[in-house]
Amino acid sequence: MPEKFYAQPMLKEGSLNGKVILITGGGTGLGKAMGKYFAQLGADLIIASRKQDVLVKTAKEIEEESGRTILPVQCDVTNYEQVENLLKTAIEKFGKVDSLVNNAAGNFISPTERLSNRAFDIIVNIVLKGTYNCTLAFGKYWIEKKQPASVLNIVTTYAWTGSAYVVPSAVAKAGVLALTRSLAVEWAKYNLRFNAIAPGLFPTKGAWERLLPGNIADKFNPVKKIPVGRVGEHQELANLAAYLVSDFSSFVNGEVITIDGGEWLKGAGQFNMLDEVPQAMWDEIEKAVRNVKGS
Ligand code: HXC
Ligand code: NAP
Repeated sequence: MPEKFYAQPMLKEGSLNGKVILITGGGTGLGKAMGKYFAQLGADLIIASRKQDVLVKTAKEIEEESGRTILPVQCDVTNYEQVENLLKTAIEKFGKVDSLVNNAAGNFISPTERLSNRAFDIIVNIVLKGTYNCTLAFGKYWIEKKQPASVLNIVTTYAWTGSAYVVPSAVAKAGVLALTRSLAVEWAKYNLRFNAIAPGLFPTKGAWERLLPGNIADKFNPVKKIPVGRVGEHQELANLAAYLVSDFSSFVNGEVITIDGGEWLKGAGQFNMLDEVPQAMWDEIEKAVRNVKGS
Protein backbone atom coordinates (compact mmCIF):
# COMPACT_ATOMS: atom_id res chain seq x y z
CA MET A 1 0.00 0.00 0.00
CA PRO A 2 1.49 3.42 -0.93
CA GLU A 3 2.37 5.86 1.84
CA LYS A 4 -0.63 8.09 2.61
CA PHE A 5 -3.04 5.75 0.87
CA TYR A 6 -5.81 7.95 2.27
CA ALA A 7 -4.62 10.85 0.12
CA GLN A 8 -5.01 8.97 -3.20
CA PRO A 9 -7.81 9.83 -5.63
CA MET A 10 -10.70 7.54 -4.68
CA LEU A 11 -13.41 7.41 -7.34
CA LYS A 12 -13.06 5.48 -10.58
CA GLU A 13 -12.08 7.33 -13.75
CA GLY A 14 -14.98 9.05 -15.53
CA SER A 15 -17.17 9.17 -12.40
CA LEU A 16 -18.18 12.76 -13.21
CA ASN A 17 -18.21 12.48 -17.01
CA GLY A 18 -20.75 14.84 -18.58
CA LYS A 19 -21.31 16.83 -15.39
CA VAL A 20 -21.08 20.61 -15.14
CA ILE A 21 -20.21 21.79 -11.63
CA LEU A 22 -20.10 25.31 -10.23
CA ILE A 23 -17.77 25.97 -7.28
CA THR A 24 -17.96 29.32 -5.51
CA GLY A 25 -14.57 30.32 -4.14
CA GLY A 26 -13.14 27.84 -6.64
CA GLY A 27 -9.96 29.82 -7.35
CA THR A 28 -8.16 29.02 -4.10
CA GLY A 29 -7.76 26.58 -1.23
CA LEU A 30 -10.27 23.78 -0.82
CA GLY A 31 -12.47 25.06 -3.67
CA LYS A 32 -9.51 24.71 -6.03
CA ALA A 33 -8.65 21.25 -4.67
CA MET A 34 -12.23 20.05 -5.24
CA GLY A 35 -12.27 21.58 -8.72
CA LYS A 36 -9.05 19.85 -9.72
CA TYR A 37 -10.41 16.49 -8.73
CA PHE A 38 -13.86 17.00 -10.27
CA ALA A 39 -12.17 17.91 -13.59
CA GLN A 40 -9.85 14.90 -13.31
CA LEU A 41 -13.00 12.77 -12.98
CA GLY A 42 -14.46 14.25 -16.18
CA ALA A 43 -16.49 17.31 -15.10
CA ASP A 44 -16.48 20.76 -16.70
CA LEU A 45 -16.42 23.58 -14.17
CA ILE A 46 -17.47 27.11 -13.49
CA ILE A 47 -15.37 28.70 -10.77
CA ALA A 48 -16.63 31.97 -9.31
CA SER A 49 -15.33 34.53 -6.83
CA ARG A 50 -14.42 38.22 -6.55
CA LYS A 51 -10.83 38.10 -7.90
CA GLN A 52 -10.88 37.49 -11.62
CA ASP A 53 -7.07 37.25 -11.95
CA VAL A 54 -6.94 34.43 -9.40
CA LEU A 55 -9.82 32.61 -11.12
CA VAL A 56 -8.24 32.90 -14.57
CA LYS A 57 -4.93 31.48 -13.29
CA THR A 58 -6.62 28.54 -11.58
CA ALA A 59 -8.87 27.84 -14.59
CA LYS A 60 -5.83 27.71 -16.89
CA GLU A 61 -3.98 25.40 -14.50
CA ILE A 62 -6.90 22.95 -14.19
CA GLU A 63 -7.63 23.04 -17.94
CA GLU A 64 -4.01 22.18 -18.73
CA GLU A 65 -3.99 19.34 -16.21
CA SER A 66 -7.34 17.80 -17.07
CA GLY A 67 -8.24 18.84 -20.62
CA ARG A 68 -11.70 19.85 -19.37
CA THR A 69 -13.35 23.27 -19.88
CA ILE A 70 -13.07 25.56 -16.85
CA LEU A 71 -14.99 28.85 -16.98
CA PRO A 72 -13.84 31.58 -14.57
CA VAL A 73 -16.63 34.03 -13.70
CA GLN A 74 -16.16 37.08 -11.52
CA CYS A 75 -19.02 37.15 -9.03
CA ASP A 76 -19.53 38.54 -5.56
CA VAL A 77 -21.98 36.03 -4.10
CA THR A 78 -23.37 38.62 -1.69
CA ASN A 79 -24.89 40.44 -4.68
CA TYR A 80 -27.99 38.71 -6.09
CA GLU A 81 -27.75 40.44 -9.48
CA GLN A 82 -24.20 39.15 -9.90
CA VAL A 83 -25.38 35.66 -8.95
CA GLU A 84 -28.13 35.83 -11.57
CA ASN A 85 -25.51 36.89 -14.09
CA LEU A 86 -23.35 33.93 -13.01
CA LEU A 87 -26.25 31.58 -13.70
CA LYS A 88 -26.88 33.17 -17.11
CA THR A 89 -23.19 32.99 -18.07
CA ALA A 90 -22.95 29.34 -16.99
CA ILE A 91 -26.07 28.33 -18.94
CA GLU A 92 -24.94 30.22 -22.06
CA LYS A 93 -21.63 28.35 -21.97
CA PHE A 94 -22.66 24.84 -20.95
CA GLY A 95 -26.47 24.68 -21.36
CA LYS A 96 -26.86 23.29 -17.82
CA VAL A 97 -25.38 23.09 -14.32
CA ASP A 98 -25.60 19.75 -12.48
CA SER A 99 -24.15 20.73 -9.11
CA LEU A 100 -23.57 23.84 -7.08
CA VAL A 101 -20.84 23.77 -4.44
CA ASN A 102 -21.30 26.65 -1.99
CA ASN A 103 -17.71 26.93 -0.79
CA ALA A 104 -17.02 30.70 -0.75
CA ALA A 105 -16.44 32.04 2.75
CA GLY A 106 -14.97 34.84 4.80
CA ASN A 107 -13.70 34.50 8.34
CA PHE A 108 -11.17 35.86 10.84
CA ILE A 109 -10.61 35.49 14.57
CA SER A 110 -11.65 38.36 16.80
CA PRO A 111 -13.22 38.96 20.21
CA THR A 112 -16.83 39.71 19.25
CA GLU A 113 -16.92 43.01 21.17
CA ARG A 114 -14.16 44.32 18.89
CA LEU A 115 -16.25 43.78 15.74
CA SER A 116 -18.03 46.64 14.02
CA ASN A 117 -21.51 45.88 12.71
CA ARG A 118 -19.99 46.06 9.21
CA ALA A 119 -17.41 43.40 10.09
CA PHE A 120 -20.18 41.11 11.40
CA ASP A 121 -22.24 41.79 8.25
CA ILE A 122 -19.43 41.04 5.85
CA ILE A 123 -18.89 37.50 7.16
CA VAL A 124 -22.59 36.65 7.43
CA ASN A 125 -23.19 38.10 3.97
CA ILE A 126 -20.48 36.04 2.28
CA VAL A 127 -21.24 32.78 4.08
CA LEU A 128 -25.00 32.73 4.63
CA LYS A 129 -26.39 35.27 2.15
CA GLY A 130 -23.93 34.13 -0.53
CA THR A 131 -25.07 30.53 -0.05
CA TYR A 132 -28.79 31.30 -0.13
CA ASN A 133 -28.37 33.73 -3.04
CA CYS A 134 -26.75 31.01 -5.17
CA THR A 135 -29.14 28.33 -3.93
CA LEU A 136 -32.21 30.45 -4.69
CA ALA A 137 -31.10 31.56 -8.15
CA PHE A 138 -30.00 28.09 -9.27
CA GLY A 139 -32.85 26.33 -7.46
CA LYS A 140 -35.53 28.43 -9.21
CA TYR A 141 -33.84 27.71 -12.54
CA TRP A 142 -33.63 23.95 -11.95
CA ILE A 143 -37.25 23.80 -10.79
CA GLU A 144 -38.49 25.76 -13.81
CA LYS A 145 -36.48 23.57 -16.23
CA LYS A 146 -37.33 20.36 -14.32
CA GLN A 147 -33.63 19.59 -14.15
CA PRO A 148 -32.31 17.24 -11.44
CA ALA A 149 -29.31 18.66 -9.58
CA SER A 150 -27.40 18.61 -6.30
CA VAL A 151 -26.06 21.22 -3.91
CA LEU A 152 -23.08 20.69 -1.66
CA ASN A 153 -22.53 23.22 1.13
CA ILE A 154 -19.18 23.52 2.88
CA VAL A 155 -19.78 24.27 6.57
CA THR A 156 -17.65 23.78 9.70
CA THR A 157 -17.91 21.60 12.80
CA TYR A 158 -18.84 24.64 14.89
CA ALA A 159 -22.01 25.01 12.78
CA TRP A 160 -23.73 22.93 15.48
CA THR A 161 -21.60 23.67 18.56
CA GLY A 162 -20.99 27.38 17.96
CA SER A 163 -17.51 28.76 18.63
CA ALA A 164 -16.06 31.67 20.53
CA TYR A 165 -13.92 34.19 18.58
CA VAL A 166 -15.42 33.34 15.17
CA VAL A 167 -19.00 34.21 16.07
CA PRO A 168 -20.20 35.70 12.73
CA SER A 169 -18.87 32.63 10.93
CA ALA A 170 -20.49 30.27 13.46
CA VAL A 171 -23.84 32.06 13.13
CA ALA A 172 -23.66 31.98 9.34
CA LYS A 173 -22.52 28.34 9.03
CA ALA A 174 -25.34 27.29 11.39
CA GLY A 175 -27.73 29.01 9.00
CA VAL A 176 -26.20 27.19 6.03
CA LEU A 177 -26.65 23.86 7.81
CA ALA A 178 -30.33 24.70 8.48
CA LEU A 179 -30.74 25.66 4.82
CA THR A 180 -29.20 22.34 3.75
CA ARG A 181 -31.50 20.23 5.91
CA SER A 182 -34.63 22.27 5.15
CA LEU A 183 -34.32 22.20 1.37
CA ALA A 184 -33.23 18.54 1.37
CA VAL A 185 -36.81 17.83 2.35
CA GLU A 186 -38.71 20.64 0.61
CA TRP A 187 -37.04 20.37 -2.79
CA ALA A 188 -36.53 16.60 -3.00
CA LYS A 189 -39.78 16.51 -5.00
CA TYR A 190 -37.98 18.52 -7.69
CA ASN A 191 -35.12 16.00 -7.83
CA LEU A 192 -32.78 18.36 -6.00
CA ARG A 193 -30.42 16.92 -3.37
CA PHE A 194 -28.73 18.90 -0.59
CA ASN A 195 -25.76 17.79 1.50
CA ALA A 196 -22.97 19.40 3.49
CA ILE A 197 -19.40 18.67 4.47
CA ALA A 198 -17.99 19.90 7.78
CA PRO A 199 -14.20 19.92 7.38
CA GLY A 200 -11.85 20.01 10.34
CA LEU A 201 -8.38 21.49 9.88
CA PHE A 202 -7.19 21.52 6.27
CA PRO A 203 -4.25 23.88 5.79
CA THR A 204 -5.01 26.61 3.24
CA LYS A 205 -3.50 30.08 2.96
CA GLY A 206 -6.93 31.77 3.27
CA ALA A 207 -7.90 30.03 6.50
CA TRP A 208 -4.49 29.72 8.15
CA GLU A 209 -3.50 33.38 7.86
CA ARG A 210 -6.84 34.55 9.27
CA LEU A 211 -7.43 31.90 11.94
CA LEU A 212 -3.93 30.97 13.07
CA PRO A 213 -1.94 34.16 12.39
CA GLY A 214 1.63 34.84 13.55
CA ASN A 215 2.86 32.38 16.15
CA ILE A 216 -0.60 31.31 17.37
CA ALA A 217 -0.17 27.89 15.76
CA ASP A 218 3.13 27.38 17.66
CA LYS A 219 1.51 28.47 20.92
CA PHE A 220 -1.65 26.34 20.69
CA ASN A 221 -0.56 23.61 18.27
CA PRO A 222 -3.98 22.84 16.74
CA VAL A 223 -2.92 19.30 15.80
CA LYS A 224 -2.96 18.42 19.52
CA LYS A 225 -6.75 18.72 19.40
CA ILE A 226 -7.07 16.10 16.67
CA PRO A 227 -7.32 12.50 17.90
CA VAL A 228 -5.82 11.03 14.72
CA GLY A 229 -2.80 13.32 15.24
CA ARG A 230 -2.70 15.11 11.90
CA VAL A 231 -4.46 17.70 9.74
CA GLY A 232 -6.49 16.77 6.66
CA GLU A 233 -5.11 16.37 3.13
CA HIS A 234 -6.94 18.32 0.42
CA GLN A 235 -7.43 15.11 -1.60
CA GLU A 236 -9.32 13.53 1.30
CA LEU A 237 -11.84 16.35 1.20
CA ALA A 238 -11.96 16.26 -2.61
CA ASN A 239 -12.71 12.51 -2.50
CA LEU A 240 -15.69 13.05 -0.21
CA ALA A 241 -16.95 16.05 -2.20
CA ALA A 242 -16.67 14.14 -5.50
CA TYR A 243 -18.75 11.32 -4.04
CA LEU A 244 -21.42 13.78 -2.86
CA VAL A 245 -21.76 15.50 -6.25
CA SER A 246 -21.64 12.18 -8.12
CA ASP A 247 -24.62 9.94 -8.85
CA PHE A 248 -23.13 7.33 -6.48
CA SER A 249 -24.62 9.36 -3.61
CA SER A 250 -28.15 9.60 -5.07
CA PHE A 251 -29.68 8.24 -1.83
CA VAL A 252 -27.70 10.61 0.41
CA ASN A 253 -29.82 13.70 1.05
CA GLY A 254 -29.85 16.16 3.94
CA GLU A 255 -26.64 14.80 5.43
CA VAL A 256 -23.71 16.68 6.91
CA ILE A 257 -20.54 14.62 6.82
CA THR A 258 -17.78 15.55 9.24
CA ILE A 259 -14.19 15.01 8.13
CA ASP A 260 -12.05 16.21 11.03
CA GLY A 261 -10.12 13.26 12.50
CA GLY A 262 -12.43 13.31 15.52
CA GLU A 263 -11.53 16.88 16.51
CA TRP A 264 -14.91 18.28 17.53
CA LEU A 265 -15.85 15.21 19.56
CA LYS A 266 -12.56 15.40 21.42
CA GLY A 267 -13.61 18.87 22.55
CA ALA A 268 -17.05 17.59 23.59
CA GLY A 269 -16.58 14.45 25.74
CA GLN A 270 -16.39 15.32 29.44
CA PHE A 271 -13.58 12.87 30.25
CA ASN A 272 -11.67 13.11 26.98
CA MET A 273 -8.87 14.91 28.83
CA LEU A 274 -7.90 11.53 30.32
CA ASP A 275 -6.02 11.01 27.07
CA GLU A 276 -3.28 12.90 28.91
CA VAL A 277 -2.94 10.18 31.58
CA PRO A 278 0.20 8.11 30.93
CA GLN A 279 -0.52 4.39 30.32
CA ALA A 280 1.68 3.46 33.30
CA MET A 281 -0.64 5.32 35.69
CA TRP A 282 -3.74 3.28 34.83
CA ASP A 283 -2.85 0.35 37.17
CA GLU A 284 -2.66 2.78 40.07
CA ILE A 285 -5.89 4.54 39.06
CA GLU A 286 -7.76 1.25 38.67
CA LYS A 287 -6.62 0.11 42.10
CA ALA A 288 -7.81 3.37 43.67
CA VAL A 289 -11.20 3.16 41.96
CA ARG A 290 -11.69 -0.52 42.92
CA ASN A 291 -10.94 0.35 46.53
CA VAL A 292 -13.85 2.76 46.73
CA LYS A 293 -16.52 1.21 48.94
CA GLY A 294 -20.03 2.52 49.48
CA SER A 295 -21.37 5.89 48.42
C1 HXC B 1 -11.75 43.12 13.20
C2 HXC B 1 -11.98 43.33 10.91
C3 HXC B 1 -10.87 42.46 10.70
C4 HXC B 1 -10.21 41.94 11.88
C5 HXC B 1 -11.64 43.07 8.76
N1 HXC B 1 -12.40 43.67 9.68
N2 HXC B 1 -10.69 42.33 9.36
N3 HXC B 1 -12.42 43.66 12.14
N4 HXC B 1 -10.71 42.29 13.09
N5 HXC B 1 -9.19 41.11 11.77
C6 HXC B 1 -13.51 44.59 9.43
C7 HXC B 1 -13.08 45.84 8.66
O1 HXC B 1 -12.50 46.81 9.53
C8 HXC B 1 -14.41 46.30 8.08
O2 HXC B 1 -15.22 46.92 9.04
C9 HXC B 1 -15.10 44.98 7.76
O3 HXC B 1 -14.48 43.98 8.57
C10 HXC B 1 -14.93 44.58 6.30
O4 HXC B 1 -13.55 44.52 6.01
P1 HXC B 1 -12.98 44.75 4.54
O5 HXC B 1 -11.50 44.51 4.60
O6 HXC B 1 -13.46 46.06 4.01
O7 HXC B 1 -13.78 43.62 3.73
P2 HXC B 1 -13.39 42.82 2.45
O8 HXC B 1 -12.26 43.49 1.70
O9 HXC B 1 -14.66 42.55 1.74
O10 HXC B 1 -12.79 41.46 3.03
C11 HXC B 1 -13.62 40.50 3.64
C12 HXC B 1 -12.86 39.73 4.73
C13 HXC B 1 -11.53 39.17 4.19
C14 HXC B 1 -13.80 38.63 5.22
C15 HXC B 1 -12.57 40.70 5.88
O11 HXC B 1 -10.85 38.51 5.23
C16 HXC B 1 -11.74 38.22 3.02
O12 HXC B 1 -11.83 38.67 1.86
N6 HXC B 1 -11.83 36.90 3.28
C17 HXC B 1 -12.10 35.88 2.23
C18 HXC B 1 -11.30 34.63 2.46
C19 HXC B 1 -11.40 34.03 3.83
O13 HXC B 1 -11.78 34.71 4.82
N7 HXC B 1 -11.04 32.74 3.94
C20 HXC B 1 -11.08 32.00 5.18
C21 HXC B 1 -12.18 31.05 5.18
S1 HXC B 1 -11.78 29.92 6.43
P3 HXC B 1 -15.30 48.54 9.22
O14 HXC B 1 -16.35 48.75 10.25
O15 HXC B 1 -13.93 48.97 9.67
O16 HXC B 1 -15.65 49.12 7.88
C22 HXC B 1 -13.12 29.33 7.15
C23 HXC B 1 -12.74 28.13 7.99
C24 HXC B 1 -13.51 27.97 9.20
O17 HXC B 1 -14.21 29.76 6.98
C25 HXC B 1 -13.09 26.79 10.08
C26 HXC B 1 -11.65 26.56 10.28
C27 HXC B 1 -11.35 25.36 11.10
P1 NAP C 1 -10.06 30.30 1.05
O1 NAP C 1 -9.01 29.77 0.13
O2 NAP C 1 -9.86 31.65 1.65
O3 NAP C 1 -11.45 30.25 0.26
C1 NAP C 1 -12.46 31.19 0.36
C2 NAP C 1 -12.90 31.56 -1.03
O4 NAP C 1 -14.10 32.33 -0.98
C3 NAP C 1 -11.87 32.38 -1.80
O5 NAP C 1 -11.60 31.75 -3.04
C4 NAP C 1 -12.56 33.72 -2.03
O6 NAP C 1 -12.21 34.24 -3.31
C5 NAP C 1 -14.03 33.31 -1.96
N1 NAP C 1 -14.89 34.43 -1.58
C6 NAP C 1 -14.82 35.21 -0.46
N2 NAP C 1 -15.76 36.14 -0.47
C7 NAP C 1 -16.47 35.97 -1.62
C8 NAP C 1 -17.56 36.65 -2.20
N3 NAP C 1 -18.16 37.70 -1.61
N4 NAP C 1 -18.04 36.20 -3.40
C9 NAP C 1 -17.47 35.15 -4.01
N5 NAP C 1 -16.41 34.47 -3.51
C10 NAP C 1 -15.91 34.89 -2.32
O7 NAP C 1 -10.30 29.31 2.28
P2 NAP C 1 -10.53 27.72 2.36
O8 NAP C 1 -9.84 27.26 3.58
O9 NAP C 1 -10.24 27.07 1.07
O10 NAP C 1 -12.10 27.65 2.65
C11 NAP C 1 -13.01 27.03 1.75
C12 NAP C 1 -14.25 26.59 2.50
O11 NAP C 1 -13.91 25.61 3.46
C13 NAP C 1 -14.96 27.70 3.27
O12 NAP C 1 -16.36 27.51 3.19
C14 NAP C 1 -14.50 27.48 4.69
O13 NAP C 1 -15.40 27.99 5.63
C15 NAP C 1 -14.45 25.97 4.71
N6 NAP C 1 -13.62 25.40 5.78
C16 NAP C 1 -12.28 25.42 5.67
C17 NAP C 1 -11.52 24.83 6.66
C18 NAP C 1 -10.03 24.75 6.60
O14 NAP C 1 -9.41 24.19 7.51
N7 NAP C 1 -9.40 25.27 5.55
C19 NAP C 1 -12.17 24.25 7.77
C20 NAP C 1 -13.55 24.28 7.85
C21 NAP C 1 -14.28 24.84 6.83
P3 NAP C 1 -12.12 35.82 -3.64
O15 NAP C 1 -11.28 36.44 -2.59
O16 NAP C 1 -11.55 35.83 -5.04
O17 NAP C 1 -13.54 36.33 -3.63
